[in-house]
This record gives sequence, structure tokens and C-alpha cells, in this order.
Amino acid sequence: MRKIAVLTSGGDAPGMNAAIRAVVRYANTQMMEVYGVERGYDGLIKGNLRILDSRSVSDTIHKGGTFLKTARCPEFTTAKGVAKAGDVLRAYGIEGLIVIGGDGSFRGMKDLVQQEKFPCVGIPGTIDNDLAYTDYTLGFDTAVNTVLSAINNVRDTMTSHDRACIIEVMGRHCGDIAVYAGLAGGAESMIVPEMEFDIDALCDKMKKNVIKGKVSDIILLAEGVCSCADLKKDIEKRVPQITMRTVKLGYIQRGGTPSMADRILAARCAVRAVDLLKSDIGGRVVGIRNNKIIDEDIDTALEMPRNFDEDLYRISTLLSQ
Ligand code: ADP
Ligand code: F6P
Repeated sequence: MRKIAVLTSGGDAPGMNAAIRAVVRYANTQMMEVYGVERGYDGLIKGNLRILDSRSVSDTIHKGGTFLKTARCPEFTTAKGVAKAGDVLRAYGIEGLIVIGGDGSFRGMKDLVQQEKFPCVGIPGTIDNDLAYTDYTLGFDTAVNTVLSAINNVRDTMTSHDRACIIEVMGRHCGDIAVYAGLAGGAESMIVPEMEFDIDALCDKMKKNVIKGKVSDIILLAEGVCSCADLKKDIEKRVPQITMRTVKLGYIQRGGTPSMADRILAARCAVRAVDLLKSDIGGRVVGIRNNKIIDEDIDTALEMPRNFDEDLYRISTLLSQ
């Protein structure tokens, strides 16, 4: 292939810019031309494409978000939408597409591969780390570090006032942000969708902590498990001796300068993605397993069941006594 395109789709993630930059610069060394598609599948359907060269990606490696912008595009979930995207790509003479996004974006990519027989390669870009075939996704490491920094700040003030705090983090249906940040930040409890939540056990632990002189517990709550406000009320009823506060970190977790780990992952995945298209191989998603860059068939990747790391959860619980 000599002419390829790249887009970012779904929720943005730190490291997406680093990945676009690496796609463009590496492809150029391989004598391949790269088009950037604006606003994900929406821009693709509307034909919002422009050539990216080495200079177009200057000064982007350290920036969060995505300079190509991203979007959620309901039209692309229809056969008609996918057909329009295929027509646009062919009209531009583009031979392969790199999609940087999460689970939803990869499902869309799969339609383009299967319906339009268009060669595509996926790079995992989402803070959620919810793709089963890869150990890590772009943006996850940065998001966890952002949560860690928030835990440190919240702990300072909670300790000073002898208060406990529930910190709600993102992750959609995946508890990885909560577990990794919980273990690294020394949170007293983590509530995640993958593990059964026992309010009695949580409150018993808090009561025991009070007896031990620990009153400023940090509870990390993964979004979607329950409401932060309801949980606060429940705990206050059962452990009235503790004053509770809540913090919802929200979009703070999705922005910010990408960490070293995310920039390196972006570069390594981009090189593999370009190499696959250069060899006319599509229908694959790139990732990392045991620190080795891998690529996997898109169908297989999307069908894999996610393995939640119960060991990390257990270690974190043990260390937070
Ligand atoms: P992410 O890629 O971060 O998981 P979304 O789930 O919002 O983000 O998906 C991004 C876009 O991918 C959607 O707006 C839609 O255009 C496309 N998409 C999502 N799910 C599907 C699906 N099941 N089939 C086809 N396309 C999808
Ligand atoms: O997928 C990334 C993510 O930030 C999730 O953690 C969160 O559930 C969702 O996107 C929020 O999406 P929106 O941008 O539509 O509010």
C-alpha cells in the first residue's frame, strides 16, 4: 500500500496524538502517504480528509486529546453509513485505514472490513483499558497517574480534617482504573463492576479502621456500580462516627499530557499498524502482551472475554489494612 488514512474515534485518550504522529512519520519513511480524517467516522462519511506530513504532526507528541478530533457517529452503525465511508475512502484512492479508538470504534472498523472489504488496522486508544486482547490501551497509564495525583491531594485534606472520601473514577464497565490507582495510591477500598460489592464488609472495615485510629479512608468507586451520593448516605447511616465527602473526577482523567508509557506504546503500536498495511494486511488490531507488540484478528480480539486481574485487587485489599 502507498496511500493510507488515520482517524481517532470514541472517547479521546492521552497518547492519541503521539500515535497519529508516529503513524505519519513512520509511514513517510516507508514512502507511504497519510491522510488524516477529522472527527472519526463522522468526518469519514462526510469526506473531511486532509494530507498529513511530517510538519503537520509537529508539536503534538506531548498533547492530550486528539488534534484530528473525535466523535461518536450513530450513522456509522448502519450499513448505509459504512458504505458511504467505503465510497469516500475509495474516491480518495486510499488503500488502508488505521483506526485509533476503543471497543465501539473497533466494532465499527470490523463492519468496514467485512462489509466493504476495506483493509483496516486498529490501535487501542481508550483510558478504560477494556479491550481483552491487549494488556494495555493508550491513555490508561496517563489516566491512572492523574487519578493517583488526585488521590494524593484528596488524602492531604481528608487526613487534616479526619474525614473519609469516596472518589469516583471512569472506566465505563471496566474497573481497571480503580484497581490500578487503588493499589498504587494505597486506597482503603475499591468498588468495581467485576467484583461483588458488599456494603457490610466495607462498613465493617471502616469501623475497624476507626478503632485502629484510621478515619480518613479513601474509597475508589468505579463509575456505574452505584451512585456516589447514595453510597455516601449508606455509609453515613452505618458508620455515623465518620464524616464523609465525595469527589467525582470526571473528564480530568481523560485529558492531560501523555505519560512516557503511553507515548512509547503509541509509537510501537503505530509502527506495527503501518507495517501491516504496508504488507497489505488488514482486519487486525494491534496491542501489547507481556511487553511485546502483537496483532490479532479483529473478530478474535472482540470475542475474547476480559480477564479482570483479581490478584491486583486482592493485593490492594491486603495492603490497605
Ligand atoms: P469507543 O471506541 O471509545 O468505545 P464508542 O463506543 O462511542 O467509543 O464508539 C465510537 C463509534 O464507533 C460510535 O460512535 C459508532 O460510530 C461506532 N460504533 C460503536 N459501536 C458500534 C457497533 N456495535 N457497531 C458498529 N459501529 C459501532
Ligand atoms: O470511554 C472513555 C470514557 O471516558 C468512559 O470512561 C466514560 O464512561 C465515557 O467515556 C464518557 O463518555 P462521554 O464523553 O460521552 O461523556
